[in-house]
Amino acid sequence: GRPWQESETNKPLNDDYQILKMPLNAGDLDMTRIPRHIAIIMDGNGRWATERGLDRTFGHKEGVETVRRITTACSRLGVKFLTLYTFSTENWNRPAYEIEAIMNLVLNFFEMELFTDNNVRFRMVGDFSRLSESVQKKIRYMEDLTSKYDGLTLVVALSYSSKQELTNVARQIAQEVKDGKLAVEDITEQTINDHLWTNYMPDPELLIRTGGELRISNYLLWQIAYSELYFCDTFWPDFSEEHLRQAIANYQGRQRRFGKTEAQVEGEASPLNDNK
Ligand code: FPP
Repeated sequence: GRPWQESETNKPLNDDYQILKMPLNAGDLDMTRIPRHIAIIMDGNGRWATERGLDRTFGHKEGVETVRRITTACSRLGVKFLTLYTFSTENWNRPAYEIEAIMNLVLNFFEMELFTDNNVRFRMVGDFSRLSESVQKKIRYMEDLTSKYDGLTLVVALSYSSKQELTNVARQIAQEVKDGKLAVEDITEQTINDHLWTNYMPDPELLIRTGGELRISNYLLWQIAYSELYFCDTFWPDFSEEHLRQAIANYQGRQRRFGKTEAQVEGEASPLNDNK
């Protein structure tokens, strides 16, 4: 059955979800075709602050509130994975004070209620070794503490670059071949998937970028091969649950063909939500 179709009443959104406090009005969304994985490039924090005559770091601070809001909304909609591009490898080139401000926001982000109240598990992807010891400790601690939650998995990409991730994959696979653990002809797409930092999640059905730029910026290059892309002008601090629902509605209005023809897809049962 599809219990989340009954979410207009006070029922949980899906079988996994027991801690729902408020009913979610489905509005015009098809609750049977909510993306399992939404990836977001959270852009526009700096401009949001500059427009108000504030230091850029205030934009990041406000951006954290958006992270809480969107995490809660995704959890209530029944999304299983939310991957947020928080700090790229290239962001290490920003002024030291801005890097420090972002890392402090990460450290102070973890109020337990967000995770306990919404059944949210926390994970990180990226180059763990480049993070400070305090950030590393906090992340490991939060990953452990929330590992029992099985609603939404909130994945924060920190010191992340897709090209670096893929380079690491190449190195690991080469090493396994060298060690005689893997034969060259046994390397498949699945082998690549298994070695990615994202190896425990499905590919994103939907990638959202806020802030008006039309770029991917080295985010999840392999994983978004068939993702629907959604760009909006809204700066991340202004991105609301309503904006999220608009993005999902837009996604639901598209036909995902995975290289097939329209006629082929229409002959199939449920083309939209099949992840290949
Ligand atoms: C992009 O906006 C945003 C970032 C580089 C940082 C994102 C960080 C946060 C939202 C805070 C920490 C998050 C968590 C999960 C605790 P930009 O600064 O590039 O904006 P601009 O293009 O307007 O300059």
